Amino acid sequence: MVKISLIYARSENHCIGRDGQLPWKLPEEYAHFLRVTRGNAVIMGRRTYEENNSELQGCRNIVVSRSDKLVLPANVSRAGSLPEALSLCVDLADKVFVIGGVSLYREALPKAQEVYETVVMADLEGDTYIDAFDFTEWTTEQVKTHGVDASHAFAFTVFRHRRSRVTAGQSE
Ligand SMILES: NC(=O)c1ccc[n+]([C@@H]2O[C@H](COP(=O)([O-])OP(=O)(O)OC[C@H]3O[C@@H](n4cnc5c(N)ncnc54)[C@H](OP(=O)(O)O)[C@@H]3O)[C@@H](O)[C@H]2O)c1
Repeated sequence: MVKISLIYARSENHCIGRDGQLPWKLPEEYAHFLRVTRGNAVIMGRRTYEENNSELQGCRNIVVSRSDKLVLPANVSRAGSLPEALSLCVDLADKVFVIGGVSLYREALPKAQEVYETVVMADLEGDTYIDAFDFTEWTTEQVKTHGVDASHAFAFTVFRHRRSRVTAGQSE
């Protein structure tokens, strides 16, 4: 059975996007995102796909959109819903990462076994905010921290949350 993971970066006040982009430039955080997702399937909303401007290399890319007029490269699939996107991943990859945005994170969380959450140490203004998910029942480890430097205007910490026990709604 395919394993569902979420991966996102949020500010302390849960901002994840501004004007269709990330509200920050944090090269080491983006490198972590690429490392973790590489070789897996990635499911994203249409706006998130447009932000990336291309598919993620080394991943099976699926874009969720209600529009069947969306034009995509041959190696990127469209799905009309999250369940349809997940059904396209069966037998394609061991892990499926939901990489945004807000409504897909919300819908996928009850089915997820794992969440990579980066907390960017700042309160930031934007137009896209993720829910404050409750991980108190999950097992959490701190994966990485990075301070402010010439390339990183904000410090950040990466957490990996894993479900502590099997609960209803999980896919395994
Ligand atoms: N910080 C992070 O980790 C992170 C991660 C991802 C994105 N972001 C940011 O978040 C913003 C984009 O996120 P967003 O939440 O606004 O948009 P989004 O979820 O990426 O895209 C929304 C669109 O996706 C499609 N969609 C979403 N859920 C669907 C569903 N259940 N069924 C069918 N179609 C569905 C619809 O496309 P159609 O309109 O074509 O039907 C919808 O209009 C950007 O600023 C991006 O940079 C940040």
